[in-house]
Parts: sequence; structure tokens; C-alpha cells
Amino acid sequence: MIASLRGMNDILSEDYERFTYFIETSSEIAKRYGFHFIETPLLEETALFKRSVGESSDIVGKEMYQFIDKGENDVCLRPEGTAGVVRAFIQKKLDRAGGIHRFFYHGAMFRYERPQKGRLRQFHQFGVESFGVESVYEDAAMIMMVSDILNKLGIGYRLQLNSLGCNECMPSYKDSLVDYVRKCQDGICIDCQRRVDTNPIRVLDCKNGSCQELYVEAPKITQNLCASCNSDFSQLQKILDDNSIKYEIDSSLVRGLDYYSKTAFEFVSDDIGSQSAIAGGGRYDRLVEFLGGRPTPAVGFAMGIERLMELIKMPESTKEGYYIGAMDDEALSSVIKIAHQKRKTHAVVMDYKTKNLKNHLKAADKANVKYCAVIGSDEMKNKTIWVKNLEDKSENTIPIAEF
Ligand code: HAM
Repeated sequence: MIASLRGMNDILSEDYERFTYFIETSSEIAKRYGFHFIETPLLEETALFKRSVGESSDIVGKEMYQFIDKGENDVCLRPEGTAGVVRAFIQKKLDRAGGIHRFFYHGAMFRYERPQKGRLRQFHQFGVESFGVESVYEDAAMIMMVSDILNKLGIGYRLQLNSLGCNECMPSYKDSLVDYVRKCQDGICIDCQRRVDTNPIRVLDCKNGSCQELYVEAPKITQNLCASCNSDFSQLQKILDDNSIKYEIDSSLVRGLDYYSKTAFEFVSDDIGSQSAIAGGGRYDRLVEFLGGRPTPAVGFAMGIERLMELIKMPESTKEGYYIGAMDDEALSSVIKIAHQKRKTHAVVMDYKTKNLKNHLKAADKANVKYCAVIGSDEMKNKTIWVKNLEDKSENTIPIAEF
């Protein structure tokens, strides 16, 4: 038997109901915040991710599904959604048009990671990207939107918040961090030794306990912000306080992608094990320009749908639609015709086999429909149909013309 690839799952039946319920709920909320749907390709030029997510990131360094296609192009399956949306934004010249552009998307992302619970090689994200708004109120709106979605789905969370500074304050902070880390160079892991040269702030995020012990006294980003970043970060906290959104400041939250500046945030769940990040995002004011567009402030987030699936509290399922069946062969062709008509307005499940009433009722029950409608020889003669409401159990025989 040929099975699916490791870390790549099928989504069907009950899982699919949760999956679509999540997408419907989050899309509905994104629209309320003024966002419009965007679809970008799954395959993009590798250079797009190298430039945006960053060569020093694990995603680009180790996890991309990268290959040369038949036209000799260096391409890869998207590991995340932001880069493609930014590319589309520039390609459609929306950076030149000016104004505010807000997009939401959902779809498959691919990262060649070691699969485990909550960590897949093909997974799905719901994400939003907002272009053209410099105000920190937009950062707050992003966080409120994630919070609205999680609340609607009955999912608890902890929100971690940091500021990653800007071109003003980040370089001198990085220098002081490098000075500090170099002093304890002998005690740190090989990865951190590499990070010091490639992207020093990544050391803060190191999963190695002994490195973390050494970094306890390291300079903190939040204590080295310039006046503008500091004021934005304070204002963001005030807006969240005013809107009763709880958060923790985590000055070692650096995110795994290189394009962020200023606000960075992650939503984590304590109910799903080690892969606990359920959403992440932040501001990326330099990325549009870096990919060749006009300088445009931008902010966004993405949520990992598979990680949220088991946490979603589904609404009570309600019975809907019709089951229609025939009790003898003669009635079957009429039943098919009636089902065809009814499907113009309602969902109809139908059985092509003739059965007795008891077995039709059993099948209707299994199909979780609201009505079971059946035609036998008497109904054929009288041009009627027998209908049972499976919720209130009422039964009626009505003319087919009125059905
Ligand atoms: P990210 O933090 O890399 O951010 O991914 C967002 C979410 O995707 C994570 O919080 C997690 O729930 C889910 N996720 C990531 N990797 C996996 C995996 N291997 N298996 C299952 N779920 C996973 C981004 O991707 C940014 N593009 C977010 C963003 C949008 N920032 C600004 N705009």
C-alpha cells in the first residue's frame, strides 16, 4: 500500500468539519476587521524566501522543500505565507497605489521539520497581512483579531509580547549582545556560536538550557529601545490593557523569521504539549522595500490550524436537510426527480436502493438530516410523499407539488 508522506496528513470526516469551521470562523472575523481574501501560489522562487524569511533562519537554512523545476528555475514550496503576499502586493503595484490594503489567506505551508505531535511537514495556516498602516493601533488590532478568533472557538491562550526595535536601536543592541555572548563563548552551544555571527538575537531563543542560564544576565532588547520604539511598545501595552487583553512581556521572544521589527507576538496554548505556539506575528516595516517595493509599513500574523484543531469547541451539531428514499422500484425514478428539484434549495441525501420504511428511517438517522421523506406505491398512486421531521418526530403525507 502506498501511504501518505511522513508529516503530511489527510483531513477528512470529523477533522474536516473542525477544519472548515475554523476557516469559516476566522475568515468571518477577518472580514469584520476589513480584510479581503488573497490566494497566492504554493510554489515560489526560492530567492523570495531567502531574502524575506532570511538565510540565517532554520526555515531557509534547513527546512525548505527546494528543487530545480523543468525550466531550470530554483523554486520551493512555500514555508510560510507572508513572503508570497508581499510579492503579490508589489507585483500588483499596490505599493505605488498607496493607501491601505488588508488581506487574509489560508492554505498549506511546507517545512521539512522532524515530525512530531503538532509539528508537520505539510501544515495549514490562517493568516492576515496589513499594508500601509504605521500606527501601533493596527498592531493592537492584529492581536485583538487573534484573541477574537480564539475566544469564539473556546480556546484559552497566553499572549507573549516583545519589541524587536528598528534600524535606529537594533544595531547598537546587537553589538552589546554580541559583546556579552562572546564573553561566555566557551560555554555556549555550536548553534549559538554560529548565531553570534549570522543573527545574534537568535541566541536569546536557544532551546539549550545551559545557554539560557548564561543569557540570564544578557542585555534585554526592551531596555535598549529608541524613543520611538519605546513609545510604540508602551502604547501597545496600554491599548491591550484598555481592552482587557492579558499579555506577558518576553524579551527573549525573537520569532523564527528575520523580517520583523518593533512588535513581535506569539499566542501559546498550555493544553497541547511541546509544540505550543498556536499563532505568531508582528510588524515588518522593512520587508516591502527589501523585496523591491516602495517603503510600506506592514504587520500581520498566522495561526497554525492543525495545532488548534483539537482545542476547538464545536457548536452543537444541528440536523439539516433531507433524506429521500423509495420503497419500491417504480417510485425510484420519481424520487430521483424530486431530489434533483429539492437540491436547488436544500441538502439532500438519497439512497438508490429501495428499502422498507424502517430501514430508510435508520439510514436517515445515520445521515443526521432533519427530514426523512419516503415514497411507496400508495404515495405514487396519490402523487404524495410521506415526510417525518426527525427532530420533533411529527409525520405528514403531503402532495409532491407542495413538497
Ligand atoms: P510562524 O510563527 O512561523 O509565523 O508560523 C505561524 C504558526 O504556524 C505557528 O504559530 C504554528 O502554530 C504554525 N506552524 C508553524 N510551523 C508548523 C509546523 N511545522 N507544523 C504545524 N504548525 C506549524 C509565520 O509563518 C509568519 N508568516 C506569520 C506572520 C504573518 N507574520 C507576519 N505576518
